[in-house]
Amino acid sequence: MTLDDVRQRLRDARRVTALTGAGVSAASGIPTFRGADGLWRNFRAETLATPGAFAKDPRLVWEWYEWRRQLIAAAKPNPAHELLARWTRERAGFTLITQNVDGLHERAGADRLVRLHGSIWHVRCWNRCGAGDRDWRDDRLPLPSLPPPCPHCGGLLRPGVVWFGESLDPDVVSAATAATACDVFLTIGTSAVVYPAAGLVHEAKRRGAFTVEINTETTEASSAVDVALRGKAEEVLAQLARSADSEV
Ligand code: OAD
Repeated sequence: MTLDDVRQRLRDARRVTALTGAGVSAASGIPTFRGADGLWRNFRAETLATPGAFAKDPRLVWEWYEWRRQLIAAAKPNPAHELLARWTRERAGFTLITQNVDGLHERAGADRLVRLHGSIWHVRCWNRCGAGDRDWRDDRLPLPSLPPPCPHCGGLLRPGVVWFGESLDPDVVSAATAATACDVFLTIGTSAVVYPAAGLVHEAKRRGAFTVEINTETTEASSAVDVALRGKAEEVLAQLARSADSEV
């Protein structure tokens, strides 16, 4: 199987689904979580990205998120974001699912994005007070105080992201699962270790999709997919699109 085979599959496909992870934002200068330069090498996930960590030290957790918000605000979408965003707008039957919370797919103009892990630009009330129960966008940078107070009840606000040990929004999981009924499923720039996201490629394969991985390294999904393309998302996608688009 070569790049040409994948191009052909993409050309012929009616329904295409792509799942992205931190690797698609690497070229924008956002560190990944795992791998050589991964964030988790310097920060222990269980000390920062859990409800327990927040309960213990909300300021420390917010300082970490504020640092990441600054990094992301200074970054720009890269060609991988641009291309996937264009497919959401131009390819009927294309679904984009992301584990990323950085908002770079949206900034590239993605339509109909399924955000599995929430958004770093959203907040909600930690106490789930009546008015603050749902996420809302708060992209002030810097936030006026850390931890920021809930404007409704005066309690604490928390980042609108999914932490370790928390469940994903069931509607979002349903939308992602529905999109595994596709002709081609692309898993791009993800280490494929965090579930339920990592299970989607297996579900797609089980339902008959042609499955493709795009990653700079071998991952947990590599041996399960039909084709594993080694390379940078921003480069491999550009190569695939050149030909796949020419006949769309
Ligand atoms: P990881 O950091 O686990 O994996 C990033 C993947 O991207 C690795 O497999 C790298 O080899 C690959 N990679 C790096 N640069 C690349 C490039 N230019 N092109 C293609 N691939 C590249 O990130 P995720 O799999 O997204 O959860 O992590 C999953 C979840 O773990 C995240 O959503 C986050 C974290 O805990 C939450 O925030 C809830």
